[in-house]
Amino acid sequence: MSKTKKEPQEKTLQEEIVDVCLRRGIVFPTAEIYGGAAGFYDYGPVGTMIRQNIINLFRETFINSEDNIYEISTSTVLPESVFKASGHVKSFHDPLTQCNKCKSMHRADHLIEASLGLNAEGKSNDELFALISENGIKCPTCKKGELDPPREFNMMLKTNIGPVDGNTAYLRPETAQNIFINFRRIAHSMRAKLPFGIAQVGKAYRNEISPRNFLVRLREFEQMELEMFVDPDELNNHPRFEEIEDVEIRFLSQEAQDKGEDPSTITIKEGVEKNLIYNQYIGYYMAIESLFLQNLGIPEDKFRFRHLMPKETAHYSKANYDLEIIFPFGIVECIGLAYRTDYDLLKHQEISGMKMHIDVEGKKVIPHVIEPSLGVDRLLYAVLLNSYIKEERKWTWFKFSNSLAPWVVLVTPLQRKDGLPEEANNLFWEIKDYGIEAIYDQTGAI
Ligand code: GLY
Repeated sequence: MSKTKKEPQEKTLQEEIVDVCLRRGIVFPTAEIYGGAAGFYDYGPVGTMIRQNIINLFRETFINSEDNIYEISTSTVLPESVFKASGHVKSFHDPLTQCNKCKSMHRADHLIEASLGLNAEGKSNDELFALISENGIKCPTCKKGELDPPREFNMMLKTNIGPVDGNTAYLRPETAQNIFINFRRIAHSMRAKLPFGIAQVGKAYRNEISPRNFLVRLREFEQMELEMFVDPDELNNHPRFEEIEDVEIRFLSQEAQDKGEDPSTITIKEGVEKNLIYNQYIGYYMAIESLFLQNLGIPEDKFRFRHLMPKETAHYSKANYDLEIIFPFGIVECIGLAYRTDYDLLKHQEISGMKMHIDVEGKKVIPHVIEPSLGVDRLLYAVLLNSYIKEERKWTWFKFSNSLAPWVVLVTPLQRKDGLPEEANNLFWEIKDYGIEAIYDQTGAI
């Protein structure tokens, strides 16, 4: 009896990208030689340069283009009191369901999404269990077991400070909290007047139930966040609104989602006037995010803004407008934009006893917060997917935008005679002295 020969399966685009990342020093699984750790990735030399370029572009676009944004750099471990005040201990959880046979754990809303193709985020545990039972959804690992009723699983990674038990701390789940707890110091030391912003680039951690999709759902990831503090009476008076009011965006309103409609194209001005966009500050940052994405090389038809439904909106937010990018496997939130109101400052004022107001012409004002929150890793993955070219040349290549290319100049002597290697090497150092990222390849040939 002859064995049937298996046809080699063509790689998906994601598999090709993962493969290139491994071979070209972009991204590797953390602790790969020990089998890896789900939800953790390391950046190699090339990945580190691209990643740094994304961060540089964030600084250029969100921080340095304004005269009232201050950047800080703070601890990733914070005492429990911070997250009790912020509401993360009580409310930062995902629905966890366990298989009654193989005991594997799953995130209930994602399981439903994968099985039924519907967005189950924000549904209550009872609603999720009803969907699982009514549709006979089984454990995806053993394919046989029944799934238990979902329960809440807190996503923060817990630790203990020092040798004495009970001194509970958490790895921060967002860089934002350091900004709120340092608010007084920064406002006073910088003599900041409203409106002003505090930004931070740094690591955040979430103990995801099921990390997946390469750089999309990670347990350790890099955030670039800006908390913009505004007098609540001035939210519809952004000083630079006119500069961006005609920017067009693809927008999915709550009403359109209720009716199952597609996104429509609107100007920022139209969105604010029709109350589709909560206020001018939100509108301003939608325009800036849109510009940022285009500078990353993500085409306009590959992303959209979605006004999250109330059930999907985080506990601290009155309204959220996610910038979602179309990936080959689905739509992914890559930038969050939240109207956090005075929620965080008031909570920290109440629990810490420290005053969080700013004096505005004799009035004590607790500022309201607009927060663009960007995920570096997801954006980098989107950049890789959108820059990967299989046509035009005999080999596959990345067409990075100017601001992201890890190197902009290749110096190669082409021939190893007549002092060319020495000349090429001198040229390479001269270029580097100008601060231009160059690479020298003695063996290069064109
Ligand atoms: N700071 C918002 C978030 O981490 O989602």
